[in-house]
Amino acid sequence: PLPERIQIKEVGPRDGLQNETEILSTEAKIEWINALSQTGLSYIEITSFVHPKWIPQLADALEVASAIRRKEGVTYAALVPNLKGLQRALQADVDEVAVFMSASEAHNKKNINKSIGDTYRVLNEVIEEAKEEQKSVRGYISTVFGCPYEGKVSVDDVLRICDRLFEMGIDECSLGDTIGVANPKQVQDVLTKLERYFPKHSLALHFHNTRGTALANVWAAMELGYERFDSALGGLGGCPYAKGASGNLATDDLLYMVQEMGYNTGIDELKLREAASLIQGHLNKELPSHQMSIVNRG
Ligand code: HMG
Ligand code: MG
Repeated sequence: PLPERIQIKEVGPRDGLQNETEILSTEAKIEWINALSQTGLSYIEITSFVHPKWIPQLADALEVASAIRRKEGVTYAALVPNLKGLQRALQADVDEVAVFMSASEAHNKKNINKSIGDTYRVLNEVIEEAKEEQKSVRGYISTVFGCPYEGKVSVDDVLRICDRLFEMGIDECSLGDTIGVANPKQVQDVLTKLERYFPKHSLALHFHNTRGTALANVWAAMELGYERFDSALGGLGGCPYAKGASGNLATDDLLYMVQEMGYNTGIDELKLREAASLIQGHLNKELPSHQMSIVNRG
């Protein structure tokens, strides 16, 4: 059965911007996040507290997270790789922290410089400490549907990692199609296995639209009752440590689809478009979403 509601989690200021090589000013990021806060989105991943050498674009994470105007009812989250990152996230008093690892060894190593085995120890510390500070914790698993270095990824590996992360205390797990290779049938095969172990509302789907399959994948997950989806406004994004990774599923395209199906997400389409035009102006390039290409054509 289809889900009763759809929840959209905006990851543009983090997953969108991290792949942009031209460094955006801190003021522009703050202005954009403030605009996103006015759209009715209930969840915004605003930045990441990773090593600034690894993601130079987000080196100003603490300034951004400290300076944004928080809107009541919106959860402001940030990506955190280790205790050092968590310290800064706590200093900024974000509402939620997101830890991350990959389902494949090669991508995990390229992205966070550790084996999967060593990563558990680091994430366990972060989750424990974040919980002590009353923060909710989201866990990301990358390369769930395919790895740029290893190719096929086993569902059993995903299952095991997901289980381990929930055991450590995460509140929600987001399954990432990091390089946008998933197809709808595969999505249903994977989710059909996972639904035996995890409640549907505890999993989110994080699709990238590299090959144009993201919305079809959303529908495939919806058909099984999944309701939580990550997306980035305008279709910005990608992981710089996954060869060939590009645009996230676009929030504006996702909103159009689910609204037309009759879902009320609480997000204002016009305000969302304004926020998209704002970041498009700052980045000085056309955003890749379908909705923005309609706007840009006039
Ligand atoms: P490392 O070099 O192995 O770190 O990097 P280390 O622990 O050995 O420390 C080396 C130095 O870095 C030390 O400094 C640390 O203090 C410092 P020194 O003592 O030499 O002066 N350091 C830090 N500084 C600031 N902030 C920190 C931090 N940690 C250590 N947090 C590390 C390991 C994880 C830090 C690095 O590999 C890293 O930052 N990686 C992040 C890569 C990344 O952000 N990738 C993109 C996000 S994941 C993604 O996009 C996928 C997702 O969207 C889902 C999907 O689509 O699938 C989530
Ligand atoms: Mg991503």
